[in-house]
Amino acid sequence: MAVKELSDGIFEVQKSGKSFLATKNAVPGSAVYGERLVEMEGDEYRIWDARRSKLAAMVLKKMKVPIKSDSRVLYLGAASGTTVSHVSDMLTDGIVYAVEFSPRTMRELIQLCDTRSNIIPILADANHPTSYAHIVEQVDVVFQDVAQPNQAQIAAVNCEQFLKGDGYLLLSIKARSIDTVASPAKIFKEEIKKLEKEFETRFQVLNKQDLAPFHEDHLGLIAQMITR
Ligand SMILES: C[S@@+](CC[C@H](N)C(=O)[O-])C[C@H]1O[C@@H](n2cnc3c(N)ncnc32)[C@H](O)[C@@H]1O
Repeated sequence: MAVKELSDGIFEVQKSGKSFLATKNAVPGSAVYGERLVEMEGDEYRIWDARRSKLAAMVLKKMKVPIKSDSRVLYLGAASGTTVSHVSDMLTDGIVYAVEFSPRTMRELIQLCDTRSNIIPILADANHPTSYAHIVEQVDVVFQDVAQPNQAQIAAVNCEQFLKGDGYLLLSIKARSIDTVASPAKIFKEEIKKLEKEFETRFQVLNKQDLAPFHEDHLGLIAQMITR
């Protein structure tokens, strides 16, 4: 049995000859979505399944996740908080602003916030960042997983409003929410072109990886804003 920290708050746990991705449970004894809890060296870890999380898939694809323990993170497309809960574990001294526009899903997310004070739930449409500008401060990272055809535009308006000068955008691009017929490779190329156009020259792609086999037809992308 061994535990290794891969980056701030993200761990590889080895148990019974197998290795798992995990985060240290901020609420020991409590699972969020039925994930396994394992005790290692006096701490409790929550196993993080890459098939249920684009962010976990990015980590397993060796993408360097720029989230630090004290980061401010704006998370667009929070759903009921599967991935947000792991981000919450990682942010021992930070905050995640979790935006979701489905009221039904938001009810589950709010329950999660009862025990995790570093998640700020926001019921809003990510197309309209001014509607939550009174709640969200300037952030170090924008993470987006909204699966919408206009995701490049959504990323751009939110980064414009909230992302610090040299902050990072982490984006999950779902090919099939943009075009159901064209090849994913062609769609991803066009989406990156759209992002470059939206962000003009202030945007530098650091890494992009196909998230298969964890998520078919999804591209994970990490970009950094360039301070003018
Ligand atoms: C693929 S799911 C996100 C899963 C989640 N990121 C996770 O890993 O636990 C996409 C979510 O984005 C939400 N969504 C889609 N468009 C949105 C928008 N314009 N504003 C806010 N949320 C949106 C959907 O309601 C859905 O819950």
